Amino acid sequence: MFSKIIATGSYLPAKILTNDELAQTVDTSDEWIRTRSGIRARRIAAADEQTSDLAVAAAREALAAAGVAAAEVDLIVVATTTPDMIFPSTACIVQDKLGARHAAAFDLQAVCSGFVYALSVVDRMVASGQYRHALVIGAEIYSRILNWQDRTTCVLFGDGAGAVLVSPSQTPGILATRLHADGSRRAILNVPGQVRHGVIEGDPHVHMDGPAVFKMAVQVMAEVCEETLAMAKLTAADIDWLVPHQANVRIIDATGRRLGVPAEKTIVTVAGQGNTSAASIPLALDTAVRDGRIRPGHVVQTVGVGGGFTWGSALIRW
Ligand code: ACO
Repeated sequence: MFSKIIATGSYLPAKILTNDELAQTVDTSDEWIRTRSGIRARRIAAADEQTSDLAVAAAREALAAAGVAAAEVDLIVVATTTPDMIFPSTACIVQDKLGARHAAAFDLQAVCSGFVYALSVVDRMVASGQYRHALVIGAEIYSRILNWQDRTTCVLFGDGAGAVLVSPSQTPGILATRLHADGSRRAILNVPGQVRHGVIEGDPHVHMDGPAVFKMAVQVMAEVCEETLAMAKLTAADIDWLVPHQANVRIIDATGRRLGVPAEKTIVTVAGQGNTSAASIPLALDTAVRDGRIRPGHVVQTVGVGGGFTWGSALIRW
């Protein structure tokens, strides 16, 4: 038995924050942000929206596209770095809000690689025959962990959610997955603050050594794609669509060049969304499925990279 993605969904909060608007509150410019990152605008969650609300909206779209009822879902995995609360998991809150009362539920924390990590885990759980309809959701509200006075980070991120429904299949849908981590590089991208005895100690905002992250991302993303291609006995020429983590258009371009995948075969959504961390790959998948670019039979190479440091790829037959 194999597993397969049978439907996708996504959700973006209504509020759009443009580069020009940001430049009114922090010392930056549309030109600087666009040329360094490719980002023009990002979405910001409303004050009464939680990560679980974004996740539920994306999951509902995926379930509607598949014609599967929430009560038929038996597993929910939410990849997030910005959970509603310390516990319970955001996945449990999503289970309740969706009415998926038969589903097991847990969160997975691998920052921007979270969706690829979750898909890899869920692939094995579904292919084992134990779960029939599994929701894999990436959902984030980064706007709440950014220091809005720090121009080196606040211009790069946004809020959103994407979801896929994974079900058993007679033919391979997830062709290969490969995951990596290097905890010794945790200092280059982190949120160091923690709650101790009811008090936040340390800074609870995103810290990033941008150039170090850039260098590491460019190096490992193409490498891990080569690994899954080799596992599936395919080459870059077999890739119909490259769907990389949407952090920065320069990282995306460099990954495509190293891998040998042309820009016309690369899905890029970062301009209007910014970096939505674990949500970025399922958001990009949903965009390309709904606009007709990704079609049944296509080979889709996803690749994530993020804090931890973590990175991984999932090679998918659609
Ligand atoms: N507006 C204007 N100037 C800025 C801004 C800003 N928003 N941010 C930094 N600067 C300034 C810096 O202070 C610096 O000024 P100085 O030379 O006087 O000191 C100058 O611009 C250049 O800064 P650099 O950091 O060298 O700029 P660089 O060209 O490296 O671009 C960037 C910075 C965009 C962060 C780049 O390093 C990058 O893309 N890194 C990858 C980070 C990333 O994508 N992270 C996403 C999260 S990680 C992930 O998802 C994998």
